[in-house]
Amino acid sequence: MTSLSTASTPLAPGASRLLAQAGAFWFIAAFAGQALFAVYIFFNFGLSALQGNSASWNETLFNGLIKGDALGNALLAAHLFLAFLITLSGPLQLIPAIRNRARGFHRWNGRAYILIALVISAGAILLQAIRPAFGGLPNQILQSINGVVIFACALLAWRAARDRRFASHRRWATRLFLAASGVWFLRVMMIAWAIPTGGAGLGEELDGPAGRAAMLGQTVIPLGVYQIYLWAEASRSVMLKYMTAGLVSVLTLIMIGGILGAAMAMWLPRILG
Ligand code: HEM
Repeated sequence: MTSLSTASTPLAPGASRLLAQAGAFWFIAAFAGQALFAVYIFFNFGLSALQGNSASWNETLFNGLIKGDALGNALLAAHLFLAFLITLSGPLQLIPAIRNRARGFHRWNGRAYILIALVISAGAILLQAIRPAFGGLPNQILQSINGVVIFACALLAWRAARDRRFASHRRWATRLFLAASGVWFLRVMMIAWAIPTGGAGLGEELDGPAGRAAMLGQTVIPLGVYQIYLWAEASRSVMLKYMTAGLVSVLTLIMIGGILGAAMAMWLPRILG
């Protein structure tokens, strides 16, 4: 029923249905938010590059293009191009209608997605290592953890598909999607936190306690909540299913607040120009 669901015969149908609906609610919100992020990447970086104005990248980036740093600049350009592709192609893999009815597309898009995930995570770790660090060494480590997790999930999703272990493949592919959405989650979490607190503890370069928590949370929170979702889905406990459906719904509402804030503060001004 939902894009996250892996169970074939649901236990406790009413509670299972509610859990699946909470998963679908989350996915629809994330889909819309990521589509907007992809449009932002295209307008802010792709369009300006096509118009021969890559210099404008430096208006939004911490390091951006650096004179004389051919390797870093090439890695950055490749990173932004792959970021656009992966943000666009990821959510399509989780839509059940596409997965079931357009199997050829699902297979090819999935292969491309895994390949891009391997390349973008390895390239990004290198890019980050050779450039001045946003938020110092701790943030460099926390962002690299996200890169390593993307790489590992991509390998595990690919291995499970190759061995035709499809239930396991779907779980690892969903984890890959969540980890690869880390930078998107980071922005959404930052804004969701800043709305009620005025940005307390975020720090200029996400180097305050809340900033560092968000840097770690971009990887750990989505994967942790998904694990709880999987346990609840497989469990016979009606209570656990209801509580997890409640947790996912509340987090989705917070996420929607973060998406709307990020759209207004960061993405739409750049798209509309
Ligand atoms: C698939 C996952 C990823 C996506 C979709 C992605 C996307 C982006 C985007 C859109 C930007 C431009 C910043 C902005 O305008 O918001 C960016 C910059 C950057 N990203 Fe990623 N990123 C991903 C993973 C990573 C990872 C894992 C690392 C590090 C290990 C990383 C390191 C960087 C660096 C160093 C920059 C350039 C910052 C600068 O020059 O100021 N990214 N990324």
